[in-house]
Amino acid sequence: MSAVATRTVTSLVDGRPFTEHVDRLAESRNPADLDDVVAEVTLGTGEAIVAACRAARRAQAAWGATPPPRRARAIQQAGRLVEANKEALARLLTREIGKPYTESLGEVQEIIDQCDFFVGEGRRLYGQTVPSEMPDKQLFTFRVPVGVSLIVTAGNFPVAVPSWYLVPALVCGNTVVWKPAEYTPALADALAGLFLRAGLPEGVLHVVHADGPHTFEGLRRGLEEGLVDKVGFTGSTAVGERIGEICGRHLQSPCLELGGKNPLVVMPDADIGLAVEGAVFSGFAFAGQRCTSLGTVFVHEDVHDAFLARFAEAVAEAPVGDPTQDVLFGPLMSERFVDRFLEWVGLIRPHHTVLGSSGTGRITADNPRLGFVGDPERGLFVHPTIVDGVRPDDALDSTETFGPIVGVGTFRTLDEAIALSNGHGYGLSSAIYTNTPAWALRFRQGVSAGMLSVNNSTAGAESHLPFGGNGRSGNGGRQSGIWVLDQFTRWQAMNWDYAGHLQRAQIDIEDVPADLDFRLPD
Ligand code: UN1
Repeated sequence: MSAVATRTVTSLVDGRPFTEHVDRLAESRNPADLDDVVAEVTLGTGEAIVAACRAARRAQAAWGATPPPRRARAIQQAGRLVEANKEALARLLTREIGKPYTESLGEVQEIIDQCDFFVGEGRRLYGQTVPSEMPDKQLFTFRVPVGVSLIVTAGNFPVAVPSWYLVPALVCGNTVVWKPAEYTPALADALAGLFLRAGLPEGVLHVVHADGPHTFEGLRRGLEEGLVDKVGFTGSTAVGERIGEICGRHLQSPCLELGGKNPLVVMPDADIGLAVEGAVFSGFAFAGQRCTSLGTVFVHEDVHDAFLARFAEAVAEAPVGDPTQDVLFGPLMSERFVDRFLEWVGLIRPHHTVLGSSGTGRITADNPRLGFVGDPERGLFVHPTIVDGVRPDDALDSTETFGPIVGVGTFRTLDEAIALSNGHGYGLSSAIYTNTPAWALRFRQGVSAGMLSVNNSTAGAESHLPFGGNGRSGNGGRQSGIWVLDQFTRWQAMNWDYAGHLQRAQIDIEDVPADLDFRLPD
């Protein structure tokens, strides 16, 4: 991996570098090559977020009044710019967070898909015409922008997931302040640069780099000062709970996309090869750092041994290492994720069996991974870990493990599999492998997850279906497709009376005479 230039990144307010209200300098490093400093970033204080919200507030009315097809034209051009820069952005994704290059291309494609979908929405944003109970009166509904949106995103999908917020928010007439993850400043700056060159007027999109405590301060003050109308957050359940609490005090319902402990159920009639392929991708692609990554595989006891043997073999043989090469996964995104991964490995108990690699924990020269691609000492690489024998009372069953560690448990009946799938209280994604339609449909009905796959992986949702979860995974909001419109617009109802005299709803109505005592003769 050749080290290229270090970028200097600052917040962007009104399209210009913003260097007021500085907290401190930080840097992001290539997790596959820690000598490579990807970016030096100036982090702002809470006041920087408030300043950006003020700028967004100033621009909102004019943007909200801009015809939606015109707003969408800027998004169309953003999509074209992203497409024209697809490989460069994907290379930066691989460099800054270690996402394997093929998956990085997929992530960039997801932004293009979002733009494509919402360009059309600019020419729809349909309201309804509704009949009135009165003559000479007509009812209508309109979608109106919510206002200023403060969007706080995680670093595992550092450009696709922000686009899930930015694109619909902007098409719907909101202005946006975006606070990206601290460990992806170069990617945030690159995406913002593409969007800001797409024809968005000044004041419509701002980016503030800040750490967690300052972001909370900015959020709290922005809400108190009436500068923020909508909050969007993708990240951990613990942080989501705190954001929900602060927003609740201001009668706001944020869009919260939180953690998951996504189950994959293997029924006795499943195509085992297909289930293994799905489990390997769901659990270990991008080192299990998707919020839709597989948590625990629940395998019917009749096929447990056959499944486990093939699953363990596939994971043990999978290439791990340099993310610019053809690998199943590269490094973890940053040091923090390695520390947490080691804590989760610490949840393994004597009744568990560990499979999938030539070691556990960090991959080093002394703790090597067979077939490793590249030099593990240069980056943040860990062994893929399969933990068999997971039971519902194990901490591993209920803890979201955001890394390459997958539990395996067994069940006897579908009802038991459903109970195991729901037991931890998360409800983001799920999968069932079966060729029996009734089992697939019963699983759909019983599983608490907002998303499920039949004979496909827990990860990899298509970008125009509703994305979101239940329980500990979110507060019911859905992103993507037409469903996200309800996050970034509010319904306005209008009635228009042209009778020329007051008509009182529910009171001045004409009844319809009927003979309700009538019965058919026997
Ligand atoms: C996330 O991890 O926050 O469904 C998003 C998927 C991807 C998006 C994941 N399209 O796995």
